[in-house]
Amino acid sequence: MGEWGPDTRAVRGGTERSDFGEHSEALSLTASFVFASAAQAAQRFANEAPGNIYSRFTNPTVRMFQARLAALEGAEACIATATGMAAVATTAMALLKAGDHAIVARGVFGTIVPLFNQILARFGIETTWVSPTDVDAWRAAVRPNTRLLFVESPTNPVLEVADIATLAQIAREAGALLAVDNCVCSPALQQPIALGADLVVHSATKFIDGQGRTLGGAVAGRRSLIEGSLATFVRTAGPALSPFNAWIGLKGLETLRCAWRPSRQRRSRSRAGSRRIRPSSECITRASSRIRSSPSRRASSGWAEPWCLSWFAAGAQQRGASSMARSCSPSPPTLVTRRAPFATRPRRLTAA
Ligand SMILES: Cc1ncc(COP(=O)(O)O)c(C=O)c1O
Repeated sequence: MGEWGPDTRAVRGGTERSDFGEHSEALSLTASFVFASAAQAAQRFANEAPGNIYSRFTNPTVRMFQARLAALEGAEACIATATGMAAVATTAMALLKAGDHAIVARGVFGTIVPLFNQILARFGIETTWVSPTDVDAWRAAVRPNTRLLFVESPTNPVLEVADIATLAQIAREAGALLAVDNCVCSPALQQPIALGADLVVHSATKFIDGQGRTLGGAVAGRRSLIEGSLATFVRTAGPALSPFNAWIGLKGLETLRCAWRPSRQRRSRSRAGSRRIRPSSECITRASSRIRSSPSRRASSGWAEPWCLSWFAAGAQQRGASSMARSCSPSPPTLVTRRAPFATRPRRLTAA
C-alpha cells in the first residue's frame, strides 16, 4: 500500500474481498461468527489462532474502515469507535490512570470539557486547560506526571490553529503523548502524524460520513498503542463501531478527497454568473488570517495552506448535511451550483 497515492488509498485501502469477489466492500452485519470446531473456537478465544469471534472485538467491515482511515492518515493502525466522543474517551481512559495529568486545549469540542473536568476528574486524572495557539502556555503547564497533550486543530467551529509540530516536541520532552482531533480538516487536508503527533482522533460523524447519517469515531496511531491499550479498552468497555456505520464510513472515505479538491472549486468559480460556490462566512475569513499568521503555518510546511479554508467551506457545503458545515456558516453562504451533489432543501413528496 506504501506506493499508492492518497486517491488510490481512499478507494482501495484496507479492502478485504471475500470469496464472492464482490466489487464494493461487503457489509458483515453480524454480531458473532461461527467456528469450524470447538477446538478452533478455543484457539481463537485464547488468541492462538487468527479469526473473528465477536463484533465487539473484530469485524471484517470495521477492520476495512480502520485500515482505510489508517492508510489516509499515514498511521500504522486504527481502532474504530461508536462516536467521536467515544474516540476521545477511549484515548483518555486507555492511556491515563489515577494521578496522571493531561493538558488540553481550550476550544476543543464542547463535550470534551465535562469529559475531562467531571468524569475523568472522578477517576483522579487532573487537567490543565491552555490556549491551543500559545505554545509557551503548553510548555509551562507540563508537570512530572503529564501523560497526555490533547488538541483539536483547527478547532470547531472557530478554527484556531495549533502548532502541532511544536506540541509534539513538547510532548516528547515531557514523556507524554500528543493526540490531535483532526475532525475539521480530515486526512484529506492534514495528517497530524506526519507533523509528529502520536495519535489522531476522529468524529467520523462529520466529514467522513459526509451526509449526516451515522455516528462514528476512530483513533489512529502507532500499532503498539492502538492494538495494545486502545483496542483492549474498546473490546472490554465496549464503545465499538457497528459494522453498518463502518460501511457508511468506508464509503465516505472513498469520496472524502473529492469534496476538497481545489480544482472543483476553481471549476465552480470559473463558471459564469451566479453558479458559484461562495465560501464566505465571518469565521472562514477570520480563520484564514489566523492561519496566515499562525505558528504552525510558519513552523511547518506540512500543515494545510490558507486556501484549505476555502476548500473547507466549499467541501462542507457540498457534503451538505454535516452539522460541521452548518456550524461554520453562521449566515448560510450561497451555494448555487447546477449539479449540487446533495439536495440542499427538503423535497416535498406529492401524492400521485
Ligand atoms: C471536533 C469534534 N470532535 C469530536 C466530536 C464528537 O463527535 P461525536 O458527535 O461523533 O461524538 C465533534 C462533534 O461535533 C467534533 O466536532
